This record gives sequence, C-alpha cells and structure tokens, in this order.
Amino acid sequence: MQCSWKSVILLALASIAIQYTAIRTLTSKPFQLCPLPSPQNCGLGAQETDPAFERGAAGGVGCDDYPYFSINSTRKLHILVLATTRSGSSFVGQLLNQHQEIFYLFEPLYHVYATLVPRQSHTRNPTDRRVTLGASRDLLRSLYGCDLYFLENYIKPTPANHTTDKLFRRGASRALCQQPVCDAFGPGDLNVEEGDCVKKCSTLNMTLATEACQEKKHVAIKVVRVPEIGDLRALVDDPRLNIRVIQLVRDPRGILSSRIETFRDPYRLWRIWRATGRRPYNLDMNQLTVICEDFLGSVSTGLSHPLWLKGKYMLVRYEDLARNPLLKTQEIYDFLGLPMDKNVKHWIRANTRGSNEPSAKHKFGTVRDSAANAESWRLKLSFDIVEYTQTVCQKVLKQLGYKAVRSVEELRNMSFSLVQDKMFVPFL
Ligand SMILES: *[C@@H]1O[C@H](CO)[C@@H](O)[C@H](O)[C@H]1NC(C)=O
Ligand SMILES: *[C@@H]1O[C@H](CO)[C@@H](O)[C@H](O)[C@H]1NC(C)=O
Ligand SMILES: *[C@@H]1O[C@H](CO)[C@@H](O)[C@H](O)[C@H]1NC(C)=O
Ligand SMILES: *[C@@H]1O[C@H](CO)[C@@H](O)[C@H](O)[C@H]1NC(C)=O
Repeated sequence: MQCSWKSVILLALASIAIQYTAIRTLTSKPFQLCPLPSPQNCGLGAQETDPAFERGAAGGVGCDDYPYFSINSTRKLHILVLATTRSGSSFVGQLLNQHQEIFYLFEPLYHVYATLVPRQSHTRNPTDRRVTLGASRDLLRSLYGCDLYFLENYIKPTPANHTTDKLFRRGASRALCQQPVCDAFGPGDLNVEEGDCVKKCSTLNMTLATEACQEKKHVAIKVVRVPEIGDLRALVDDPRLNIRVIQLVRDPRGILSSRIETFRDPYRLWRIWRATGRRPYNLDMNQLTVICEDFLGSVSTGLSHPLWLKGKYMLVRYEDLARNPLLKTQEIYDFLGLPMDKNVKHWIRANTRGSNEPSAKHKFGTVRDSAANAESWRLKLSFDIVEYTQTVCQKVLKQLGYKAVRSVEELRNMSFSLVQDKMFVPFL
C-alpha cells in the first residue's frame, strides 16, 4: 500500500513540524520528521531519517501491523497517567506496572525536559512551553508505538549501540527488569525493588526493551510534566492511538506539604515560613498557583465532558485510592476495560494497609497507613500556609471536593475528614 495519505495527516499536524524546527536547533542530532511508529515501509519519514532511525526501524512493526482508523475493542490501549509530582502518581503507576499485559514507563518526559529545559528553569515562557510540549507529544506517540529508540535522542550521554544505563528510573518498569531485557530476574520475581533492578541488571539494551514493549498487549506511561489535559488533545484525537487518560489529583495542601518535605532546596522558603510564622517576601508563589491553575484547567476540561474525551478520561482522587485501594483500582480497570490480574491484587495487598508481609517496604507510606495518613499534611503545615493555600486554590478545592478549614482546631482535628464524598463518574 502506498502511504501517501499519511502525508495528509502530517500536513494536518503541521504545527508539530514547526516545533521540530525549533527542536533541531536545540539538539545536535537530526530528528525524524515522521513520528509514526517505525514507518520504514512507508517512504515518507524514512527519507528524512538518519541512519540511527533506520536501524531503529528494523525491529519495529510495519505499517500494516498498526491498526490505523480501525475501531476494535481489543485494540492496544495507550494508557496515560496524568499527574503532578507528589500526588501519589508512583502508586498509580505501580497499579498498571504490575499488570502482566501492560508495558509501563515511568516519566520518560524527564529526558525531554532535561534536554530542552536545562537547569530546571521552570519559566513559563510560552515558546519553551510550546516546544517542550510538542516534543513531549511526539515522544509519547513514538513510545506508544514501542519505538524506544526515539527516546535515545534525549538521553545524555547519547546511547552507543542502542544501549544505555541512563534511562531515568529504569527500575520502576517491571518489563525492563525482567527476562529477556534483564537476566537477573524472571517473571516469577514479583516486587523487584527498583534499586535492585538497577544494581543487578546490566546496561539497558534498547532493542530488547523495544521487543519487550511489543510483546505486551498495552502500553502505559506516567507523566508529571504535562500541565493540562488540553495539552494532550493532539494525542487523544490521533486516530493511530487509542488513548485512555487517568488523571490523578490530590488535595493541593497535601501536595504542597509533601513537596516541602521532599524538595528541600526549591521549597526552602516555605519551610522558613512554616518555622517562623512569617512569610518570606521573596517566596515563589508560582510554586503553588501553578499546581492549582493546572488542576483547575484540566479538571474543568475533563469534567465538562468534551466530545474528544468521550470514553477516554477518568479522574481519580488520590485520597479515594488511599482509602479504598482495591475498590478504586477495580474502577480504574473497569474504565480501561481490562481484567485486573492477580499480580495487581497481590501488589496492592503487599503494599497497602493491613499488610503483614515482611517483604513490603515503606515506599508508599501514605497508602499503607490508612486514609488518615493521606491527610497527614494537616499535622505538618501551619495554619497560615493552609489558609493562604485555600485562598489561592479556592476554586479547585471546591471542584474536587476538598473542604476548607476555618481554624487551627479544625485543621488538626483528624476525626473530621476534609475529603467530601464525591463521585467522579468516567465519561463513557
Ligand atoms: C480486533 O483485533 C484483534 C487483534 O488485532 C483481532 O484478532 C480481531 O479479529 C479484531 N476484531 C475485529 C472485530 O476487527
Ligand atoms: C559499538 O559496537 C561496535 C561494533 O560492534 C564496536 O566497535 C564499538 O566499540 C561499540 N561502541 C561502544 C561504545 O560500545
Ligand atoms: C541488544 O540486543 C539485540 C537483540 O537481542 C542484540 O542483537 C544486540 O547485539 C544487543 N546489543 C548489545 C550492544 O549487546
Ligand atoms: C473533632 O471533630 C469531630 C467531628 O466533627 C467533633 O465531633 C469533635 O468535637 C471535634 N473535636 C474537637 C476537639 O474539636
């Protein structure tokens, strides 16, 4: 089949081409113009391709294997966990990672941002933002097609012979810690610790990783660097993909508290405020407003049920998952239309509250220690900071069903929950 009609799609995605021009100037390697998964048989794209990509395409799927425009309920799912840092996204990622038929990647966009936005200058410069989002979408599109070589463009130092030991959080992907990618562990090794994987598995062979991806029925990717769901519309609308977005939200007061504990340097001034009761004049308020504005934007879009998200969007509150992990996970799998396999159930039992298994580590403490602990921020933040957050984030707190507190007594009274019962029914 001639693939000339694909050029029509590419023209329609002209904005991406413009972004590529920008990316080309920022990275040394030339980029493949056509972000289709391994389109080596399709003329277009291959012409512009550098030799690395041609070699890359050799292990990929041909055009005919890819179900363009077909509506088929047994189609490969492209699951995207849309979250923000310290919102419980590692936990949700694990719920997918543990499934035998899912190939899971933990935050591959890290590499895009490390390359295009160096030195963590999180300026909200609109040009930077457009470029990084365009590059992010293209990378996601390639990864959903199991074209892992595409990621090599962003890994420093550039992988030689398609091998690298610099893939960000490689150990968080089960499939990358198992045979045939890594001989140290077999499929029977449940609960391989991330650190053990990195220690015991040798350098990652991207060809084997690509094959591991192709062998799984579905691909799931967690991202914390895409601000709003609207930024993903081009992917959701892409007929070559079959996206399901699981948006994870958490009480912004909890996120802020967790970030203050975790990101010591960037949140230093918040700690000073918490300790002294005086707000430093040079405190970066953006750290908070950005969380709330992005949530508000995404959640308003998602809950207004636009047609482009029909059947493709689910909102999950971290607190609900913490309160009832098995039930909520079942809802997530129902939404995906997949059976929740025994590995997932086993992992939940081993890693949440009520578990007596010695193998369970304390990585997911909030979930383990009952719902009350999802609200442990209430004992850590000062009332000033909470009050300030409630003002800045008023709308989104209301929309997501998080109650504001009016006094320090209310804040510290843990027998009074701030999480309202609220159903977020997937838009089917
Ligand atoms: C859907 O796709 C699967 C796997 O590609 C195939 O076996 C099945 O026959 C398809 N079903 C329909 C209704 O096209
Ligand atoms: C890559 O493979 C080639 C041929 O096998 C070899 O000569 C070269 O040393 C390898 N490069 C690295 C960095 O391993
Ligand atoms: C990576 O794996 C592929 C597929 O098994 C193999 O052909 C290739 O030689 C491996 N690369 C290296 C550098 O070992
Ligand atoms: C804490 O909240 C509960 C439930 O709203 C209430 O009954 C109780 O009186 C409160 N305790 C204090 C010390 O305010």
